[in-house]
Amino acid sequence: MSEITLPTAAQEPAVNRRSVPLGRNGRTSEREAGQLALAYELLPGGALGGNALPDDLRFVFHHGNGARFRDTTGNEYIDYCLGSGPLVLGHAHPAVVQAVIDQARRGTHFFAYLNEPAVRLAKVIADHLPCAEKLRFTTSGSDSTFHAIRLARAFTGRDKILKFEGAYHGHHDYAQLSTSPKRVAEFPAPQPDTSGIPADVRELMLVAPYNDLETTRGIVEAHAGEIAAIIVEPVQRIIAPVDGFLEGLRALTEAHGIVLIFDEVVTGFRFGMGGAQAHFGITPDLCTLGKIIGGGTPLGAVAGRADILDQCDPRQKGDPAYVYQNGTLNGNPLGAAAALATLAELEKPGAFDRLFEIAAAVRSGIGEVLAANRMPAICFGTGPMWHILFTDREPRNHRDVMAADGKALIRFDYELIRNGIFVLPGNRRFVSLAHSRGDIEDTLAAVDRACRRFTLAA
Ligand SMILES: Cc1ncc(COP(=O)(O)O)c(C=O)c1O
Repeated sequence: MSEITLPTAAQEPAVNRRSVPLGRNGRTSEREAGQLALAYELLPGGALGGNALPDDLRFVFHHGNGARFRDTTGNEYIDYCLGSGPLVLGHAHPAVVQAVIDQARRGTHFFAYLNEPAVRLAKVIADHLPCAEKLRFTTSGSDSTFHAIRLARAFTGRDKILKFEGAYHGHHDYAQLSTSPKRVAEFPAPQPDTSGIPADVRELMLVAPYNDLETTRGIVEAHAGEIAAIIVEPVQRIIAPVDGFLEGLRALTEAHGIVLIFDEVVTGFRFGMGGAQAHFGITPDLCTLGKIIGGGTPLGAVAGRADILDQCDPRQKGDPAYVYQNGTLNGNPLGAAAALATLAELEKPGAFDRLFEIAAAVRSGIGEVLAANRMPAICFGTGPMWHILFTDREPRNHRDVMAADGKALIRFDYELIRNGIFVLPGNRRFVSLAHSRGDIEDTLAAVDRACRRFTLAA
């Protein structure tokens, strides 16, 4: 990897320089307070999804630019959540904004027949992702993993799916099992992450430890002939695969006629134009995409072997082997236009080197700040992602993550937000190409302030 090429502070766009003190600063405007009150009244928990901040940190997003955004009061934050990952170019990248405006003038939606941006996007994806002989657009990452699982079941005529403990594959019933188990249980029994999952669904799922090929092999052999697919995040959350793990899964699935699904919703177009599959040199049968390929809009895809994807060829409707996959917004042209603009930026020479370098600079800088403040925590990560854990060694699997002090991390993350560093509490963090040297300097100063205000005992 080349030398760090972050721009100097003087070269940065003015918009990225701090103009108000970072963070919440105890200020809430009347307008924002009104919106928060309305949200509490109308939305369960005053939230749009499964995450809510403590009352003193709650805010309403107002606008974002590059690596920063402001809340409705005007408080500024440096963003490492980045829309939970899609915004690899930062907020409101001019090329993406222009592409969306241009497409909106021509029409925002035509239903899941063909539109030109979607066809062009299919070509870009197929040109870069090694497994992508064909692909089908969806509208989210969850949509993609759900349909990849259905395609694998139809293809093999088997029902069981093996996933890994701690892996996140979205919101549906086959995904919400042993994602964040509260207790240590025997493998391969799954633990539901939500109420509302029928007991029969649990019977269809097997859970194995990530990075443990031997235990995984044992589970596969005990269920030989029953498993349709192994679905794996090639980099599970923030945990890198140990040498031989992905290769081992490839060999194991081939030996047992199991479909290997790489869930590349996070890693796709983040670890390079070829995703984690090119980065690690292992080609799965199917991969699922979301986040970056939507460029910040609701777009996903399942890509992979033509013989598996062709099961959802609508000309086969009526054939018992036909697999239904459809969605009103499949391949939406606004999303495809945003994606094309995003991928064009990522294709520019040096883009991924820079993205990796930014993350490396954040990781090493924060590691030094934690050490200088004698915090019992590490900053680590892989590729363009980073994380903090209150532990002394990098996790190899989800049980190592469970052994770290998760409550301390959440309290520390709240302190980061108070100081203007926006992270999804407890979750791994992303960087974007918009994060400048000035953003990183301001981040390190804010992390230092957070460390000084943080006490370990609750
Ligand atoms: C690896 C992975 N798969 C699937 C999903 C689900 O994607 P979505 O939230 O777009 O439904 C996520 C979301 O974070 C993810 O990280």
